[in-house]
Amino acid sequence: MWIRSFLILCLNFIGANAYKPVVILHGILSGAESMTLLVRHIEKLHPGTVVYNCDKFDGWYSLENDWWQVEQFRDYIDQIGRLHPEGIIVLGYSQGGLLARAAIQSLPNHNVKTFISLSSPQAGQYGTSFLHLIFPDLAAITAFELFYSKVGQHTSIGGYWNDPRRQSLYMKYSEFLPLINNEKITSNSTSFKMGMVRLDKLVLIGGPNDGVITPWQSSHFSYFNDSLDVVPFNKRKIFMDDSIGLKTLLEAEKLIIIVKPFVHHLSWHTNRKVINQVIMPYLD
Ligand SMILES: *[C@@H]1O[C@H](CO)[C@@H](O)[C@H](O)[C@H]1NC(C)=O
Ligand SMILES: *[C@@H]1O[C@H](CO)[C@@H](O)[C@H](O)[C@H]1NC(C)=O
Repeated sequence: MWIRSFLILCLNFIGANAYKPVVILHGILSGAESMTLLVRHIEKLHPGTVVYNCDKFDGWYSLENDWWQVEQFRDYIDQIGRLHPEGIIVLGYSQGGLLARAAIQSLPNHNVKTFISLSSPQAGQYGTSFLHLIFPDLAAITAFELFYSKVGQHTSIGGYWNDPRRQSLYMKYSEFLPLINNEKITSNSTSFKMGMVRLDKLVLIGGPNDGVITPWQSSHFSYFNDSLDVVPFNKRKIFMDDSIGLKTLLEAEKLIIIVKPFVHHLSWHTNRKVINQVIMPYLD
């Protein structure tokens, strides 16, 4: 037994067997402390892992404009990446997974090897269950009036509110999701795709009992069409045109889609069994 421990110690010391550092970004209306169980669990199962649990955008600050948050998180992973030339792993939970993905795409020379999106509205959100914390009377059907406005775009949610029946307003007003998903082509579109295809592994995690991400398939880039049927990601323009490199990643076997039932939104990062199944296998 002691020989094994000694060997692990040596291997960690010389870095031969070291796990890559993990950078974590929390979800909306919470902070780094909400990810503590996940951090401790990683440290316990993969001893020696350096975990950076990002403590920016705490509480109400998580409602600030998406680009404002993305630019800071981009600089954060850039700095951490420089400290670890061997490469890093980034994990974002819920809104944090969308912001982290945008940060990676905004950093075409990053050294993020694996990005894990843990139940994040990657194709947008059209459901009010979590919004009721902030806007108790808001209905999805009229929310566009709030979000597709100059004021609404100051909030993070406004930037990824994707009303399937108001697509022209979404394209006109939304300053975030249509850009980062290359639905609106800008001078940055090419680098947004480069940042994505630079990944060795893109892990998209979500499931039908999430209860918050709506539709839950948005966690895999699938989304409602205008009759509110969910179109699978590989039948959507973003994939078929390879707008952000999802097709490239899939064909290179670098895209991993995980569908896990019976996990509520608040359990992905707090239930050790779930963490063991969907996260731990990708942290090496
Ligand atoms: C492109 O990205 C840069 C750097 O983040 C930003 O300042 C600029 O506004 C972006 N341009 C467009 C057209 O979105
Ligand atoms: C929406 O998607 C469903 C399922 O893919 C499809 O049967 C239906 O025709 C689509 N509706 C429209 C208006 O595109």
